[in-house]
Amino acid sequence: MSAPTNLIVGEPTKGVLTITLNRPEALNALNTKLLEELADLLQEVESNADVRAVVITGSRKAFAAGADVREMATLDAVGVLKDPRVDHWKRITAFKKPIIAAVNGFCLGGGCELAMHADILIAGEEAKFGQPEIKLGIMPGAGGTQRLLRSVGKSMAMQMVLTGEPISAQQAMDSGLISEITIPEATLERAQAVATQIARHAPIAVEMAKDSLLKAFDTDLASGLVYERKAFTLLAATEDRNEGINAFLEKRKPLFKGC
Ligand code: CAA
Repeated sequence: MSAPTNLIVGEPTKGVLTITLNRPEALNALNTKLLEELADLLQEVESNADVRAVVITGSRKAFAAGADVREMATLDAVGVLKDPRVDHWKRITAFKKPIIAAVNGFCLGGGCELAMHADILIAGEEAKFGQPEIKLGIMPGAGGTQRLLRSVGKSMAMQMVLTGEPISAQQAMDSGLISEITIPEATLERAQAVATQIARHAPIAVEMAKDSLLKAFDTDLASGLVYERKAFTLLAATEDRNEGINAFLEKRKPLFKGC
């Protein structure tokens, strides 16, 4: 893979890879290239054992201000139908390791949809979350109507999507879209600390726990419980499960190997 031009990619540190969206001239608007680079990168690190969790962040002014409207303006209906971004979004959705979004500034449209692809969202107190597509005569198209409703409930999701007005970090916190608010200077550090904590755990258990939690979005309770039980049973076949339990009994720290 050639070096990304729209992302700043850190070195994995304590199992955590930090990816910074980097199109400052367009408030990190998600053009095709950026999304392709992000999808390629996630696909590549899926098999990298040094990466156990990923943090995605933007700038102080914008996590991402949406899909790239200039690029969108060039697409007709067939262009939208054949839009390669659909495949990039699918590849981002399929990423199995935990993603933590560290959000500051504008988190709008496709940017909010990208943040909702993260498993945990942590935001600075000045962050603004919104789905303003309606103001452009369109609507969210990268999961916004579905994921937002599941995160914040019907009334808030309807209000955000139908008025196009953003909500504050505090409103996002109150409605369950994010799990923590920080001062803006501390958002990335806090997201990295949470990611580091996750990265210490048994990778297969983390992957299966994420998978089972996401399953709850699209299944009924009884089927979800069966799914969870099967994942739980599968973990009994891992060495890390024995290591975790033995370490507890022997009063020492576990050394998880991801097998
Ligand atoms: N696409 C392309 N360029 C964008 C952009 C976007 N989504 N958002 C901002 N920019 C560009 C601006 O055009 C501007 O570029 P120029 O200096 O070359 O004119 C630069 O970023 C800075 O933006 P502003 O001057 O507008 O900054 P501001 O502080 O005055 O306003 C803002 C910030 C309120 C976020 C405003 O930029 C804005 O409303 N942006 C568009 C937000 C939006 O509608 N997002 C939804 C896009 S559609 C979508 O996402 C579809 C989907 O679900 C897949």
